[in-house]
Amino acid sequence: MFRLRRYRYYVFCAVIVVFLLYRVAQNSEQWETVSASFPHAAPPPPRSRPPPTSKSGASVRVDAPIKGIASEDNDLPQRILEHPGKDDSPVKIPDLKTTKPTKQTDVDDDEDEDADFELPPGSETTVQEAGVLAYDHDGAAKATTAPVINVPDKSVGQGAKDAENKPVKPTTTAVHWSKIPEHFPVPASEIIPLPTGKPKKIPTIQYAFEKESPKSREVRETRQQQVKAEMERSWAGYWKYAKGHDELSPVSKKFRDPFCGWAATLVDSLDTLWIMGMEEEFKAALLEVEKIDFTVGKRPEIPVFETTIRYLGGLVAAYDVSGGKSGGYDILLEKAVELAEILMGVFDTPNRMPVLYYNWKPQFASQPRRASTSASVAELGSLAMEFTRLAQITKENKYYDAVARITDAFYEWGERGTSIPGIFPEHIDTSGCNHTAQNELEAAKNAAEEKLYDETDNDSSKASGVTADEDEELDTESDLKPKSQRNRPGKTKYSVAKRSEKSSALNLNVVKKKNPKTGKVEVIAGETLLPECVSQGLTSSGWADQYSMGGSQDSTYEYFPKQWLLLGGLEPKYKELHLKVSEAVKKWLLYRPMVPDDRDILFSAKIITSGEPETDANKQYEVTHLTCFIGGMFGMGGKIFEVPADVEIGKKLTEGCVWAYESTPTGIMPEGAHLLPCPDTKDCHWNQTLYEHTLDPSFESRDEQVEEYERQKAKAKAAAEKAKKEKSRAQDAVPPRRKPGQPKESELDEKPPSGSQEDYDHTRIQKRAPISGTAELEDDAIERPSSRDKKAKFSDTDAGDLEDSDPAPGFKKSTVGQVPLQEDEDTLEEDPLRPLSHKEWVANKIKTEKLPKGFVDVGSRAYILRPEAIESVWYMYRITGDKKWQEKGWKMFEAIRRHTTTEAGNSAINNVLSQKPTQLNEMESFWTAETLKYFYLLYSEPNLISLDHWVLNTEAHPFKRPKAPFGV
Ligand SMILES: *[C@@H]1O[C@H](CO)[C@@H](O)[C@H](O)[C@H]1NC(C)=O
Ligand SMILES: *[C@@H]1O[C@H](CO)[C@@H](O)[C@H](O)[C@H]1NC(C)=O
Ligand SMILES: *[C@@H]1O[C@H](CO)[C@@H](O)[C@H](O)[C@H]1NC(C)=O
Repeated sequence: MFRLRRYRYYVFCAVIVVFLLYRVAQNSEQWETVSASFPHAAPPPPRSRPPPTSKSGASVRVDAPIKGIASEDNDLPQRILEHPGKDDSPVKIPDLKTTKPTKQTDVDDDEDEDADFELPPGSETTVQEAGVLAYDHDGAAKATTAPVINVPDKSVGQGAKDAENKPVKPTTTAVHWSKIPEHFPVPASEIIPLPTGKPKKIPTIQYAFEKESPKSREVRETRQQQVKAEMERSWAGYWKYAKGHDELSPVSKKFRDPFCGWAATLVDSLDTLWIMGMEEEFKAALLEVEKIDFTVGKRPEIPVFETTIRYLGGLVAAYDVSGGKSGGYDILLEKAVELAEILMGVFDTPNRMPVLYYNWKPQFASQPRRASTSASVAELGSLAMEFTRLAQITKENKYYDAVARITDAFYEWGERGTSIPGIFPEHIDTSGCNHTAQNELEAAKNAAEEKLYDETDNDSSKASGVTADEDEELDTESDLKPKSQRNRPGKTKYSVAKRSEKSSALNLNVVKKKNPKTGKVEVIAGETLLPECVSQGLTSSGWADQYSMGGSQDSTYEYFPKQWLLLGGLEPKYKELHLKVSEAVKKWLLYRPMVPDDRDILFSAKIITSGEPETDANKQYEVTHLTCFIGGMFGMGGKIFEVPADVEIGKKLTEGCVWAYESTPTGIMPEGAHLLPCPDTKDCHWNQTLYEHTLDPSFESRDEQVEEYERQKAKAKAAAEKAKKEKSRAQDAVPPRRKPGQPKESELDEKPPSGSQEDYDHTRIQKRAPISGTAELEDDAIERPSSRDKKAKFSDTDAGDLEDSDPAPGFKKSTVGQVPLQEDEDTLEEDPLRPLSHKEWVANKIKTEKLPKGFVDVGSRAYILRPEAIESVWYMYRITGDKKWQEKGWKMFEAIRRHTTTEAGNSAINNVLSQKPTQLNEMESFWTAETLKYFYLLYSEPNLISLDHWVLNTEAHPFKRPKAPFGV
């Protein structure tokens, strides 16, 4: 029997291997066939991808955007690049207005044409008549002669900085996106329309500013000009070295194309140019906008979230701030619609949840698909404002329908309940398929089938001599194969799923039916191309749920109140969603850190739970730059929903990020770090002992190790002396005496080895639990007559001196606890092997990690020109009218300018804890789109982009709010 079992085991494994090879071969054949038609195509992406991008997450940057790149290193592309702008561009923008008042206040003053979101003449027909986006053939021709087709290298991730612009051979075969009939269209009668009615009266957000004194006006305007000067320099650098590309590499003066190569910085910065009154630059940029061809991309897949917030948001906002329809810059809306039409393809799934990495090439895009089983909250929920505003402007409900279904899905999930009610776990299964239920169904079917088989085939199997055991084995094997290949007599084939998966890339013959229960159009089992599916709403896709307000989550929560504003308060779901988020954050995430000057500040933590947060929540007291937006969110939410307490929380959250800026040598906060929460949020005082214990969770064992080391040393020394004396036949050898208070040797032996990783982890987990026995240890340590100890205690800057100076004759390097080996006495003047005491260890850690006081660790030390902190400072200024925010903001500005300025622009830096950080040669488009815009608006007249007339998306793009009867 054993043998048989083993034999079965091998067969089983072999079968799996063969099957996997078979599937791999199948897949690669499939992909090879397709990609063969794209000479430079990278292989298609995996079905689900790791979370996104630089915009939405610290974690993200690691796996995210592909820094695949075009080149200007070689002469050819360089020359070609220089041309299109000025010389050889015959591009005419007929509708481009030649004059436009530069006065900034105009942006706000001409609200008159607002509210009646009218479609500019022409654009509607373009879009609708064709049904297909009538994409312009000149553009296509342009693209065909495009100098370079760049294929991002999938293996190039974060480290791509140096991989800038690898030349790719010019090619003339560009593949274009093209409109494909939808597989899962929403019937016209079911399209969710924009809410209609008179916009609700919404409380004012901005403080009623008084007239300023001439003196403070002068200070303010001087600062504003300095901000503008940064914009002018960065813009000039981009224009000179990277025009038409996504990003300037500000140190090397080259460019990168991580966002499909559609001139991300240019599109993202249009409204900033307008707001800052850089009219000439704005107009020149529009000529470049016209050249963008969204039907060809430099990435095999479009990152939907980034593309929506940067490009679509950028175009729509530039259209809005430049006057909308009456502004006359129709090209902005035309381009927005062109892009939106392409992006609409991502919603063509059975449950209408979007595919967030869109494989836009027709060979892939034409295939039916489901949304990912692992999408991030932020990417799923942050499309709402851009598509909504576009729907308002174009009066096309389909754009609103696309995102309203996502909101409805979040809302429905909220009603059903998440493990922390009100907020959503980071990774979401958006596929709409309940795999548990599906498996149950399959199992039931299998059982029924087996029964049928047993009943009909008993005799034949017996007759052919098949034993029960072998029969079982066959079952296992056949279960692993696509069921269509099972060839048992009398079997009905029902295994649509696997068969269709296999053939899905080849066959377009989709069967759609309306589900009578849900009223939704679904692919029905049978001759379908997608696996069978028991439908469900959104669910968590992991076994443990992660909640935070940071990267991969942030902007979905940010959008609830903003979307409510954009819809004039007419969709109550957004208010409800926001108020629940606010409750959850207050209950679960907010914490007050213990900081040196006892400042009353707040941060938002991250929680990981396996489903019972009351008992199993693992709380991480993080500080991330991305989370800094939340001060503004609480402030604004508190104003519009009339929750004054939330405004106060918003202030403390913003103060938290300001404190983090002030804490570092550069004056800039790090990308990610951890702090120590106050044991008592009401009565919070700095406790140096507690801080040091947190830095060194093994503090107890560490001092024990030192003691033990000393004991072993004494012991060995005594033994050595004894041996020496015996050798010289001395008779009066005396055993070393035990010092009072020292444990006996027998006690030592019983002690388990300490200082292991397990101990470390254990102590960490319990770091907030009462710590026993420390007093004793500390006394011990202090008692020891060592000058070194005092140094460690009183100086945290001198780790270099921490090396032991006690002579330790007769010993050499050994691991802790091991009896040191004897050695020649004269070679050993020092004892570098003596383990560090707790105090020494902490001092050393602080020195080597350059930890600012209060920080437990700084895991991510870069600053990549992010806006979130100044964003909240700006909201606080506009909400409270308190000039202290302008002062705080100015310190931040000066620090950023000091460390990031390059000749051509501004660069991300590697380490905010260093006096001289290294510039990383990256200038993300949010520097000019957001960071500089917020700084500029902090020193502008408060009615420029007033929060009572505008609502900004997560990329700081202002959309016009519907006109409402304001309080006054
Ligand atoms: C999925 O199916 C299982 C089993 O039928 C069920 O218990 C569960 O509630 C379903 N999940 C959702 C989100 O509908
Ligand atoms: C099949 O075999 C089982 C047991 O071996 C027996 O109980 C059953 O009656 C048989 N069925 C038929 C249809 O022969
Ligand atoms: C400081 O922290 C230590 C270690 O947790 C604790 O024993 C001590 O009581 C604290 N001191 C104060 C004043 O709270």
